[in-house]
Amino acid sequence: MTNDTMTKGMSRIDGRLKVTGAARYSAEFTPAGMVYAVLVGSTITKGTIRSIDTKAAEKAPGVLAVITHINSPKIAGYRVEPGKQEPAKGTYKLFYNNKILFNGQPIAVVIANTFERAQYAASLVKAQYIADTHQTKLAENTAKAFAPEGDGKKTRGIADAWKTAPVKLEQEYIIPSETHSPMELHAIIAKWDAPDKLTVWTKTQGVQDTQDGIANIFKLPKANIQVNSKFVGGAFGSALQVWPHEVAAILAAQVVKRPVKLVLGRADMFTSVGYRPHTWQKIGIGANADGKLVGITHEANGQTSTYEDFNEGPAGVSHSTYACPNVNTIYKITPLDIGSPTWMRGPGEATGAFALESALDELSYALNIDPIELRIINNAETDPDNGKPFSSKYLKEAYKLGADGIGWSDRKAKPASVTKNGWLEGYGMAVGMFGAYRDKASARAIMMADGTLIIQTAVSDIGPGTGTAMVTIASDIMGIPADKIRFDMGDSSLPQAPSQGGSSTTATVGSAVYQACTDLKENFQKLIGNGGTDKPDYVAVLKKNNLPKLEVTSAVSGGPEMEKYAMYSWSVHFIKVLVHPATGVVKVDKAVCVADSGHIVSPKTARSQIVGGAIGGIGMALMEEVIIDHRYGRLVNNSFADYHLPVNADIPQIEALFVNKPDPYLNPMGAKGMGEIALIGMAAAVANAVFNATGKRIRELPITPDKLVGMENLLES
Ligand code: MOS
Repeated sequence: MTNDTMTKGMSRIDGRLKVTGAARYSAEFTPAGMVYAVLVGSTITKGTIRSIDTKAAEKAPGVLAVITHINSPKIAGYRVEPGKQEPAKGTYKLFYNNKILFNGQPIAVVIANTFERAQYAASLVKAQYIADTHQTKLAENTAKAFAPEGDGKKTRGIADAWKTAPVKLEQEYIIPSETHSPMELHAIIAKWDAPDKLTVWTKTQGVQDTQDGIANIFKLPKANIQVNSKFVGGAFGSALQVWPHEVAAILAAQVVKRPVKLVLGRADMFTSVGYRPHTWQKIGIGANADGKLVGITHEANGQTSTYEDFNEGPAGVSHSTYACPNVNTIYKITPLDIGSPTWMRGPGEATGAFALESALDELSYALNIDPIELRIINNAETDPDNGKPFSSKYLKEAYKLGADGIGWSDRKAKPASVTKNGWLEGYGMAVGMFGAYRDKASARAIMMADGTLIIQTAVSDIGPGTGTAMVTIASDIMGIPADKIRFDMGDSSLPQAPSQGGSSTTATVGSAVYQACTDLKENFQKLIGNGGTDKPDYVAVLKKNNLPKLEVTSAVSGGPEMEKYAMYSWSVHFIKVLVHPATGVVKVDKAVCVADSGHIVSPKTARSQIVGGAIGGIGMALMEEVIIDHRYGRLVNNSFADYHLPVNADIPQIEALFVNKPDPYLNPMGAKGMGEIALIGMAAAVANAVFNATGKRIRELPITPDKLVGMENLLES
């Protein structure tokens, strides 16, 4: 791309709207007559509701209704067909019966004419329960673990071959549950336009998937549901499905016959919209003395709820990341009396990479081979699982860029050998990988008589700056400046687009925008005739042909290339840490994150994407941990005071570097995904740096000071 705007990188097209407050998020609409809903959560973890007293709440000022399982309208999608058995598993059904499946489960929704009145009345709802013994501890329930699908096992070559290797190790790695902590709380406004017609403003990663989800739950024609989600303040996977609070608001609006707004409180965000599941892993890994891997065995056991089998396949990374002849993975999930987990940035891979990339680092010390060198020795030149060529893979270039960026040559191979100003210093690195995809999508391109180009597609932008990337693509093809382009999205009535997830939006929706703009330009060239010109004067052509506008809608889908090639994005994270020997405090001193994400369409937003993912990874490494008091099955730290996230003071200089070489097969822009690989591998890179600094290997996240405290002797020696 030669356009000047492209090389410098366009600023966010919605940046001004966001910083001035003009961008309106789902909670920020006020349809006439709107009222407010607040949920009441179960205070027990497992059992049944014996009785529920809503009288005081109903009599409280301003209250319009209190809905519980007793008086809830029947939800058509929950109905079991006559003669059919109630399925044992599925998504959670709101107000379906008196069963309590997890602590915080919604047992009532209170609707009032102000938020404060709804909140007060919610405090008056009193339930009496018959409590059963609950199980919320993964380690004590592994006997219940089962393979989520098939037998959960996958073997390449010989199982457990690592045991025969001359250099080998076997270790356990544990991550706690982590919660998505987007700045924007989940929120919905539901408005029934007719008894079978609904409009919602809701926080979602996919307006059309939400449309589908609501259609299924309420058994409405999809076309009768309008979903709006123009701006999303971060989601990370937490807004990829229709959650109970959304069902509650839609029900409430039906009951009170008014538009209803429901905004989750921060505490509810910990129990209502999923989380990254607490997962135990064990890796056995062995190599020859020259560093060539002999075998990897990767076991994983993650928690799920009793009502839904959440499966994210964390062990998969061990099959795809390196060339190793013998790899066997065993994945199980364990049902507990908790809410279901869900996708969270780098779902599966982020968890798996913590184990694999920690184990590889441990192996590098056992072999006395530099960790980068060990990875290069085992670099996969083709997909190790099926021998397919990679569509593109510039991992070796990424190692080089990152090693130079962090100053890897300053690293001492011997752990705990560098102290500076009373702090221990260490370096670590780790790799992230995630599948690159292109899915089905459509876009409409409209050239208006005044030369304004309008691009429309139903995608959501959860924060990465999708609009900016799409406008960049359109600007480049049409040869018109970005400020003449309007991008419409986050509206289910627009041309088809998938949910924003799995790092596939630029590849997928970008391809549709590329196609629509290419087709539109061709239509102009046809109007001009004689083969047209590469830079048509659109305004003049429209005028000459007496046209108010010219528009085209184009669709794309995955192609045969997706079968022929193994498509992945790659990242390498380099970390320099300082560890305080007496207190065990870890400071990330510098981070250099390198992405092989194909051609970088939008440099500024790409950098933000990498920095954001790196911060998420630092949180995962050092701070984030959902804590349950297992006596009660109840969350202890469901607030930002107690659930620690990195703040500005915790974040060092983060350098985002890009190989920036186009992938020739994934899409016409040559772009690969970036969102997930920004985080995947980061936690291991930090843990590996902590080991290099201290000689202490922390295999259970987060790496809090209590796990490192008392290393004063390292300074004295
Ligand atoms: Mo992502 S976990 O697909 O939002």
